[in-house]
Amino acid sequence: MDTIEKTAQFIMGTYKRLDVVFEKGEGLYLFDTYGNKYLDFLAGIAVNILGYSHPVIVKSIKEQADKLIHISNLYHIKEQADLAEFLINKSVLDKAFFCNSGAEANEAAIKIARLYGKGERYKIIAMENSFHGRTMATLSATGQKKYHKGFEPMLEGFDFAKFNDFDDFKSKVDDSVCAVMLELVQGEGGINLASRQYIRDLYSYCKENDILLMIDEVQTGMCRSGKLFAYEYYGIEPDVVTLSKALGGGVPIGALLAKNKVADYFKPSTHGSTFGGNPFVSSVSLSVLEFVTEENFLAHIEDMGNYFLDGLKNIAKDKKQIESVGGIGLILGIHFKNPKDADSLVQKAFKRKILIGKAGDSSVRFEPPLIVEKHHIDEVLNFLKEVL
Ligand SMILES: Cc1ncc(COP(=O)(O)O)c(C=O)c1O
Repeated sequence: MDTIEKTAQFIMGTYKRLDVVFEKGEGLYLFDTYGNKYLDFLAGIAVNILGYSHPVIVKSIKEQADKLIHISNLYHIKEQADLAEFLINKSVLDKAFFCNSGAEANEAAIKIARLYGKGERYKIIAMENSFHGRTMATLSATGQKKYHKGFEPMLEGFDFAKFNDFDDFKSKVDDSVCAVMLELVQGEGGINLASRQYIRDLYSYCKENDILLMIDEVQTGMCRSGKLFAYEYYGIEPDVVTLSKALGGGVPIGALLAKNKVADYFKPSTHGSTFGGNPFVSSVSLSVLEFVTEENFLAHIEDMGNYFLDGLKNIAKDKKQIESVGGIGLILGIHFKNPKDADSLVQKAFKRKILIGKAGDSSVRFEPPLIVEKHHIDEVLNFLKEVL
């Protein structure tokens, strides 16, 4: 039996997979079992920011594997403490909690917001079209009905406001609201960028009304936007930020960062995770973050992001089937008028051995490793020019 047959027989059918088995990767390229080479502009869904087999990651994995992989949070963990220090020093948050995925980071955010509300205020306003994860609480916070189907009743205490519509948000606020939770670029919802004015209005309103501003940076974080955290573009200080995906450059790790006034609500036995922030993932994460936050590297991401976006805009300007292009840094998308065009583009790209993904129903997203160079972008732009 080959891998595709074994998958069909032994693995639950939660994923619609393309029929390819990758064997190894190098830089921005993946190689399948037949030796075919693919250009990866999805990076394991915004995870592999240093691409494949990057010496920084390989070195830290090997070194830490020789020392200590897991020990549990019953003891102090040097690597976890070092990673927390790094994240806190580079952010406006005060303390970290570590877990293993984006859903877990958001689950922790939802729990801590409820503690903050002291049982009187429990409601969290999330956004239409958002995506926060697949656990029951994060699914309940996800503003897309299609993900709820079959799992109802959803958890109580969530309401949804229209993204980028401050008046709609205000109309949803009542005495039971303790927090608002949102992405600054809706990723799974279709690469929709939050406007600066909207976020600044939310920020001021939340501050005045003691509502926690919780930013889900699971997809935008770790320099994908061109800054370590996308919130930096908006001149705001969120109360809570959640991270995962690129945080480990490929090893599974998630984190909740919070201001002290919130963080202090997590006490022994309120929350926890067996694996969260173990020595292995923490040391790999720190080595990735030290690399990507170098000033020159951040400038590289910005340059590549601008070059790519300009190229996409140029291609889109005379194409009737395209509604718009958007995004920031290296989280970019093309929004089509017809969902079929998005599906068809992903398929055509795959045939040309370029990996891209869908976002929402009618958008295609590009989230290459951050080490992408102009010639990789040109290859994708040339492909797009040809097929659109
Ligand atoms: C913004 C956002 N939040 C949360 C999640 C869930 O992350 P995970 O799949 O690691 O649980 C995702 C995953 O795509 C995401 O994009």
